[in-house]
Parts: sequence; structure tokens; C-alpha cells
Amino acid sequence: MQYVTILGSTGTIGQQTLDVISQHTDRYAVFALTAHQNVDVMLQQCVRYQPQYAVMQDAEAAQRLHQRLQAEGFTIQVLSGMEGMIEVSAHEAVHAVMAAIVGAAGLLPVLAAAKSGKKILLANKETLVMAGQLFMDAVKQGQATLLPIDSEHNAIFQAMPGQPYDDLAEVGVNQIILTASGGPFRCYTKKQLGEVTPALALQHPNWVMGAKITVDSSTLMNKGLEVIEAHWLFNARPEQIEVVVHPQSVIHSMVSYVDGSILAQLGNPDMRTPIAYGLGYPERIASGVKPLSLVEIAKLEFEAPDTDRFPCLQLAYDALAVGGTAPAVLNAANEVAVAAFLRDDIHYLDIPRLLDDTLQKLPVEKVTSIDQLLEIDAQARACVQKAISKTSITHACKAVAL
Ligand SMILES: NC(=O)c1ccc[n+]([C@@H]2O[C@H](COP(=O)([O-])OP(=O)(O)OC[C@H]3O[C@@H](n4cnc5c(N)ncnc54)[C@H](OP(=O)(O)O)[C@@H]3O)[C@@H](O)[C@H]2O)c1
Repeated sequence: MQYVTILGSTGTIGQQTLDVISQHTDRYAVFALTAHQNVDVMLQQCVRYQPQYAVMQDAEAAQRLHQRLQAEGFTIQVLSGMEGMIEVSAHEAVHAVMAAIVGAAGLLPVLAAAKSGKKILLANKETLVMAGQLFMDAVKQGQATLLPIDSEHNAIFQAMPGQPYDDLAEVGVNQIILTASGGPFRCYTKKQLGEVTPALALQHPNWVMGAKITVDSSTLMNKGLEVIEAHWLFNARPEQIEVVVHPQSVIHSMVSYVDGSILAQLGNPDMRTPIAYGLGYPERIASGVKPLSLVEIAKLEFEAPDTDRFPCLQLAYDALAVGGTAPAVLNAANEVAVAAFLRDDIHYLDIPRLLDDTLQKLPVEKVTSIDQLLEIDAQARACVQKAISKTSITHACKAVAL
């Protein structure tokens, strides 16, 4: 029996992980579940999966969960805060940790899992964007097994056996080709992009995902974060990572070799496939995903991304090229800007503008420690928040004038 901790169990990836686990109760048991403050969903999950621990980041939510579990006669241990999440990630009884918290909040628990030598199923791409080198060092030192769950990186992992490599050229790899759906606004003009509302941005054409990653997909920031993620996971230089828009989201990514071969991984757009791959690795286990019908799909299309209409992708390439703390700044600024857009405080096109401004304003430093990165993350958040306050006032004035 393998014991699994699911960080972010109440989210989209967390729930799909539980779905796959429930198809294999002879192999996997839930050790711990964690969430931010969604007590209702956490309670249902505790009742159904009976973990040893449940952790709520929010202390008041943890208290409510504890009371409700007690009232229902459960003796599950309830912890709270970052310490609780770190404890259940590093616990000696745990074999595998699914890292599915959204954003920078996921960094410290997954780092603890890496240092403790766990099998890590990494969905939280922000960890690698913020702290790529430090996290990869922790994986190596802790002798952890790192399995990418982002569908693109999982596809590359499947098409490029025997990793990690020091140099992709040594194993005959020319390029990694990340596919992007292009999001719901692929065909929008700049003028139309200026009118995008949160409700529109939350409708992804192919994937069902949490709010932040859905908005990131629509701005192509998600692809930008994935470029940085691919750099760290596969030791790929920026010029070795190409992005191709593929609206059907059937080819999840590809690896191009020097002999002219391109190896791709295909499947229906359903995250249970990479989750099952990660859980079962190195074996294959069923995921509940319907096999892909190529005849039904019939047509696969590809086009180059347009970084003029979707500048976030280029900002990510640039931050990767600059290196140091630039990707951490980009990530923090993006989290704050997306949250502000979802609250209707800023316009859609303010997102890339705010990211660019923040990257210009904050000096780039060499990465030295996690504490330094957390400090930079806080500075970037404060910087973009200040700019948003001004932007919101401007927008409010315009609305009054109208
Ligand atoms: N969804 C996908 O298809 C997909 C695909 C590839 C990669 N990913 C990556 O996987 C991660 C999760 O994505 P998602 O779509 O599953 O997100 P989601 O649906 O928004 O779920 C986020 C999870 O993280 C928890 N959380 C949020 N803020 C937290 C905090 N400050 N401290 C502790 N926990 C916190 C949430 O708890 P509450 O419910 O209590 O708020 C929830 O359990 C992201 O990094 C995303 O980029 C997702």
C-alpha cells in the first residue's frame, strides 16, 4: 500500500487525484489532505477517504473542520498553517506527495517533500518558476523522484526516457515542443482583448481547471510559466523550447530529435492521464479516461503563438533569459494581477502591462536562498499591488465620468 499526501485536495487537480486513487484502493491510501479554507469540500473528502491528517492553511477553517469532524464521530487529526502542510509532506509514513496547491503557497511543502526523498507528483508549476535551481537541488540531495504532472511536461517525460540529462544534445534531442491550446481568445483582435471580462476568461475551450490557471491559459502566461518549468525539469535552454499553438489539445507536447523524428504523447484532454502516470510510475495504471478516437478528432491544427497580442509568453522567455530572481518576480506579479482581474479591479490588458512594469522596477538578484526568494516574492506583490491601487482608482474615475 502506498500512502499519498494530496496538497490542494479540494482543487481541480486534487479532486482528480482522488478520483484516480478511488479506482485503485488496493494500491493507494490517502495519508493526508490539505486545503486553504474550503471546509465543506474538505469535510466530504475526509468522510469518504478517511485520511490520518487533514490540514487547512487557514487556522479558523481548521477549527471549523475539527468541530464538524468531531460532531460526525471522526478522529482525523486536523492541523493548520504552513507547518501543518510541511509536516504531512515530509512525514515518514508518506510515499508520494501530489503537489497541487495553486501558486507560490505550494513552494515550502513541496520543498519539504523533496528534502525527505518522496515521490513527488508536481502539478504546482509555480514552485519551479520561483525556485527552479534550489528545488532541483533539493530533489537531488533528498533523492526524491520527481514526476511532472502538467500535461505538457508529462508528455515530454514520456517521450524522452531515461532522464535527467546534463545536456539534451547528448541524447539527440533538438528541441522540446510545448503545445498550447491558445485559450478562448486565440482569434481575438487586440480591441476585443481589451473587452474581456473575468466570466469570459474563465471559460477554457478544452480543459476544466482552477480559476488562476484558466486565466493564465487565456493570456498565454500559463505557457510562459511552462517554458520556465521545462527549462528546469529537462535542463533545456530557452532556445531549445518552442511553443506551438494546437487548438485541439490532443497532442500534449513533443520532443524533436536530431534524426528528424518527433515523438508526441496524445490523449483526450483529461488530467487524470498524467495523474495516473505519476501515481503508477514506472507502471501504467488505469485512469478512467476515455481512449482517444483519432477518427472523431479527424483534424489536428498548429500555428505559431502571437506574442504581440499575448505578450505574457514573451515576458516569461525574457525573465528566463535574464535569470536570477526575475522569474520569481514575474510569478508573484502575475498571481496578484490575475487575482485583481478576477475581482474586476483591473482590465484584462492591464495584466501584461503590470507584469512588465514590475519586472522593470525590481532589480534582478542572484538566487541565494529560499528566504531571499520569499522576500522578493513579497516585494513584487507589494509593488504590483501599489500599481493596481492606482489603476483601480483610474478605472473608477473613468466609470464615474461615463
Ligand atoms: N487544473 C489543471 O488542469 C492543471 C493542469 C496543470 C497544472 N496545474 C497546476 O496545478 C496547481 C493546482 O491547480 P488547480 O487548477 O487544481 O487549482 P485550484 O482548483 O484553484 O485548486 C487550488 C488548491 O490549492 C489550495 N490553495 C489555494 N491557496 C492556498 C494557500 N494559500 N495555501 C494552501 N492551499 C491553498 C486550494 O484550497 P481551497 O479549495 O481551500 O481554496 C485548492 O485545494 C496549479 O499550480 C496549476 O498551475 C493545474
